[in-house]
Amino acid sequence: MPSAPKLTKEGTPEPSKRKIYREDKQETRKVLKQVRIDDTAIPTSTTGTPSGDETPASTNESTPGALSLPKKRFYRQRAHSNPFSDHRLEYPLSPEVMNWTKLYPGYVDPADPTKITKQVEIADIGCGFGGLMIDLSPAFPDKLILGMEIRVQVTQYVEDRILALRDLHKDDEEPADSAKFQNISVIRGNAMKFLPNFFHKAQLSKMFFCFPDPHFKQRKHKARIVTNTLLSEYAYVLREGGVVYTITDVLDLHEWMVKHLDSHPSFERLSKEWEDEDTCVKIMRESTEEGKKVARNKGSKYVACYRRLPDPAI
Ligand SMILES: C[S@@+](CC[C@H](N)C(=O)[O-])C[C@H]1O[C@@H](n2cnc3c(N)ncnc32)[C@H](O)[C@@H]1O
Repeated sequence: MPSAPKLTKEGTPEPSKRKIYREDKQETRKVLKQVRIDDTAIPTSTTGTPSGDETPASTNESTPGALSLPKKRFYRQRAHSNPFSDHRLEYPLSPEVMNWTKLYPGYVDPADPTKITKQVEIADIGCGFGGLMIDLSPAFPDKLILGMEIRVQVTQYVEDRILALRDLHKDDEEPADSAKFQNISVIRGNAMKFLPNFFHKAQLSKMFFCFPDPHFKQRKHKARIVTNTLLSEYAYVLREGGVVYTITDVLDLHEWMVKHLDSHPSFERLSKEWEDEDTCVKIMRESTEEGKKVARNKGSKYVACYRRLPDPAI
């Protein structure tokens, strides 16, 4: 039986260590907040109210004192999230009204502080705890990289991780060093529903699908992140010549993704030789948290990469 909670002097239950930790991090996030989308850009969510688990919008003022890297154990959440449930997500009505300045404060346009000077080019779909982005960041220092993650607490972990990494480097002497990790950010979102609300047609050059949820049972296959319909959305946001990267340790899911991508007219599989030469494939194999877990358990990793083909002339 679980032990009775300790009581405060007032007779109310004492908050858990986890609660105190997360409230402290939330306060920091309120100041350095980046995930919340600008209020003016939020349509009514599917339930009409924003989730109580999110913090209000705030400024980009800096906080005195160094930020500590977040501890994963305080952000644990159920492994699976139903992509068809109402997650009370916020999303912009269109890419034009998306405010990216809180996500990439290092790229705010001095001529127009409501805008950033670059567009996001690389997306990590279902980024989990963010390991891929952390390693892609120095490999693509002049590209903006965005992780999209459906789980609230996992998104908050990645956000706190990025804020702490930026903070760690902010006083570095070389401009290239003090800008470290300014090019990565994370947003809470359901990639199966709202991608075209965030990205313009042909905006992205790379999309990563690393160790997506396998949804093993046949009746759950429709929840997989690669389907014919979704591939058409990915083709829409991906530019000609752009690349879809997939990796999984589940052979059945690998075969499913290959089957759908092979049969989609906008994609062409890249060769094994291409994969062996590509920096991102190397990073993708080694950097993600799931990938590390698979390596520890001596599991297999199945990779398939596809180039976005030109649209046929009409
Ligand atoms: C198995 S984890 C892999 C995480 C990470 N890519 C890695 O390799 O370590 C799959 C992640 O995708 C997220 N996810 C699942 N469906 C999603 C969706 N529709 N939109 C955004 N994220 C999603 C899950 O919450 C989970 O964190």
